[in-house]
Amino acid sequence: MHSTIYRDNGQLLMEKVSLQSIADKFGTPCYVYSKTALELNYHAYVNALKSHPHLVCYAVKSNSNIAVLQSLAKLGCGFDIVSIGELERVLIAGGNPSKIVFSGLGKTADEMSRALDVGIHCFNVESESELRLLNKTAEEKGLKAPISIRVNPDVNAKTHPYISTGLKEDKFGIDINQALDVYQDAASMSNINIVGLDCHIGSQIVEKSPFVDTMKRLLELADTLNEQGITLNHVDIGGGLGVRYQNESIQSVDQYMRAILPLLEGRSETLIVEPGRSMTANAGVLLTEVLYVKVTEHKNFAVVDAAMNDMLRPSLYQAWMDVQNVETNVNQQEKTYDVVGPVCESGDFLAKSRQLTVKEGDCLCLFSAGAYGFVMSSNYNSRPRVAEIMVNEDSAFVIRQRETLEELIKGEHLLPEQ
Ligand code: LLP
Repeated sequence: MHSTIYRDNGQLLMEKVSLQSIADKFGTPCYVYSKTALELNYHAYVNALKSHPHLVCYAVKSNSNIAVLQSLAKLGCGFDIVSIGELERVLIAGGNPSKIVFSGLGKTADEMSRALDVGIHCFNVESESELRLLNKTAEEKGLKAPISIRVNPDVNAKTHPYISTGLKEDKFGIDINQALDVYQDAASMSNINIVGLDCHIGSQIVEKSPFVDTMKRLLELADTLNEQGITLNHVDIGGGLGVRYQNESIQSVDQYMRAILPLLEGRSETLIVEPGRSMTANAGVLLTEVLYVKVTEHKNFAVVDAAMNDMLRPSLYQAWMDVQNVETNVNQQEKTYDVVGPVCESGDFLAKSRQLTVKEGDCLCLFSAGAYGFVMSSNYNSRPRVAEIMVNEDSAFVIRQRETLEELIKGEHLLPEQ
């Protein structure tokens, strides 16, 4: 979970580019990603897993910009997708279809059809109804659909309830105790080819034990399946590795993997992982300008030009994300601020009660914004979506243009005059 951001002479730099220069050149708000950090994060997985056959399938949902996908595809990375939109992005970015796993609990027949046509590695099936529809869709094409069943292992990932997915009461996967029956059904279907076993227990998991417990349960099931004559080529443990936003004591990718790999020793199943946040979060920031400094009797507010529609995580999950001025203000007095956006909701904030030295016109940097940032943005309050920039050594490229006002209402129509 590498970051390539550091402070030099009071200036925040990403790789060799000053973030202030990016704000000046491309305007704010904008997301900025480091290509080198993405590459280092991918290599951290590959290195950690080198002792066992593996496939790293980057979870596209965490950041789906096609230049991000392209950078990873170039390294041989696979992809975990959840929609046809993500599939098309991966293909445009040069991703290898045979390294794509398709997750998600509401796949449509059209999505299945396209994924079968391009020859993805595997469908992660989440219900018996989905399995039947997939069998039918494959039959119509005269193809066999490669599948794994996503099981719900009932393991507590000890994370925010909105991003925990592996408990019995969650909507995801098939109860691990019923999985054997579903596998037997799948084995009897003429257009289904069982290739693996899948799971994803949640996100921003900062302990190793939930992964270890999950892997043990998965392998127990794999053994039972084997006894029934169902052999698996892979076991997919999902994503979920936590990153450092504040002062969480997180593990390195290597530490997480070293906890799991001994369980796989001597086994032939390929290990698939689906990391999202741990690949992109610390590779990106959100830059925003201070529009107004507003001092009230109770609080100081830094009103910035980015809002909850651009970065939803603090509002939705009460997520703590670090905020710093991109240039150290030596002559300014440090005060406690709430950093808030212009959206008309009290829930619109990026950070609360932070010690900052700011003045109007300053550029602030919201850290660890590369995952679940732009992808969760919306046009709420009719705010155009922001630009995305990719830094590579001493260069910076626009990888998504700021939305224009024309684009904002594109596709809308006035009613005909009565
Ligand atoms: N695989 C599956 C099936 C998933 O549902 C997810 C994330 C991942 C992999 C990647 O998990 P990661 O490595 O990124 O933790 N918007 C929330 C996070 C939602 C995660 C949803 N699923 C946030 O901003 O915290």
